[in-house]
Amino acid sequence: MNGECELGIYGLGVMGRNLLLNMADHGFRVAGYNRTPEKTALLRGAGENVRAFENIEEFLAALRPPRAVMLLVAAGPPVDAVIAEMLPRLAPGDCLVDGGNSFFKDTARRQIALAERGIFFLGAGVSGGEEGARHGPSLMPGGPREAWERVRPVFEAIAARADGEPCVGYLGPGPLGHLVKMVHNGIEYAAMALIAETYDLMKRGLGLTNDELSAVYERWNTTDLRGFLVEITARILRQPDEKTGGRLVDAILDVTRQKGTGRWTTQTALELGVPVPCIDTAVAMRDLSVLKAERAAAAALSPGAPFHVNGSMDALLEHLHGALYAGLLIAFAQGMALLRTAARDYGNGLDLATVARIWRGGCIIRAEILDAIAEAFRARPELRNLLLDPVLTRHLASRAGDLRAAVSTAASAGIPAPCLMAALGYYDSYRSARLPANLLEAQRDYFGAHGYERIGEEGTFHTEWSHE
Ligand code: 6PG
Repeated sequence: MNGECELGIYGLGVMGRNLLLNMADHGFRVAGYNRTPEKTALLRGAGENVRAFENIEEFLAALRPPRAVMLLVAAGPPVDAVIAEMLPRLAPGDCLVDGGNSFFKDTARRQIALAERGIFFLGAGVSGGEEGARHGPSLMPGGPREAWERVRPVFEAIAARADGEPCVGYLGPGPLGHLVKMVHNGIEYAAMALIAETYDLMKRGLGLTNDELSAVYERWNTTDLRGFLVEITARILRQPDEKTGGRLVDAILDVTRQKGTGRWTTQTALELGVPVPCIDTAVAMRDLSVLKAERAAAAALSPGAPFHVNGSMDALLEHLHGALYAGLLIAFAQGMALLRTAARDYGNGLDLATVARIWRGGCIIRAEILDAIAEAFRARPELRNLLLDPVLTRHLASRAGDLRAAVSTAASAGIPAPCLMAALGYYDSYRSARLPANLLEAQRDYFGAHGYERIGEEGTFHTEWSHE
């Protein structure tokens, strides 16, 4: 029957299909459409709430007006192509929801163009992968409120739950939804890199086996480090490899690929002048990992010292636990500080407590630490940086010694731990009331007459520096 479906999904790949089935499970009649019929065919027999279409006109006719269509297509030109295809068939008041990992500036551009045609365009970050899409993702919608209200009942029903609350909330106008998803992914890059560095220190430095490593992460996942990425790391380390008879992780090439969201986070932070060195370093280390042949050549030229760590194993494990907690908190602090500034430029009213709340379930960076982060922003909505929150800084101070010990162990053993080091450098710099920036200003004035400010005086000064 025409007009009977609450929402339509355009793009029935892994994410689209699973979101559709999730919606159907929650009692919504939904329609699916895909350009290639093979994927549409996968929906046949999916139950009475699901209708699958091979014809776009029939797909759109099945939707209740004003129509809501969620796009799950690859970010970039495919989104523009689908919008161009849909536009002549849409009516004012209809809503398009982009559920892909679109760059937020593309979302802003599309929102403006579509608003001129009376179409509401919501940019909704979706996190949680296939499993999340099917059983409860974290959803980060931003854009015209009309579009949010149109899809709200569906989104609230299908989202993951944390303490009974749906992990979804309206983030505000403009491209805030995709901005928040981009920064989520930047933090994801940093969190993954921090975990990988602790793995390397325990594997190469302490000589732990995969089983022992798995047990460590499993134990950590019962502490304040509890979170999805720690949990899956414990599982990954146990996965056997049929081909070698060993563990799969040892058979995987040490080259990390990326789709670009982490790099966008770094680029955006550089544009806005917000320091996010843990995220920058995580991106840089993915890039460095790709230089596999160069690394092998360099390793042959300058083989390192034996990578063994001296000292008590228990003590180092304890330090690594604390260091990972500190590193994660600092990475979140950087990502949140970026969101605070970016939201000012790209859309107003972003509530960081809502962001932290939405990330508590369903998404890749979900972790217990987010409870404290959400509470910090709830208590002080204008908080500029999590390192200015008295409760969190106490948590951090009690781990700072661990971070320092982990970093110095890594440095003396010659095991790279650049994200942990970046976290420590940020922490020590951020809490330095005086930095050597004075010397940089003097140097700038010396060679370029750029001027400098003096302590306690207004204005800019220049000195004819002695060249003696
Ligand atoms: C998520 C993930 C998801 C995807 C990443 C992978 O939140 O569900 O972040 O969006 O797995 O985009 O990113 P890379 O390919 O860049 O690692």
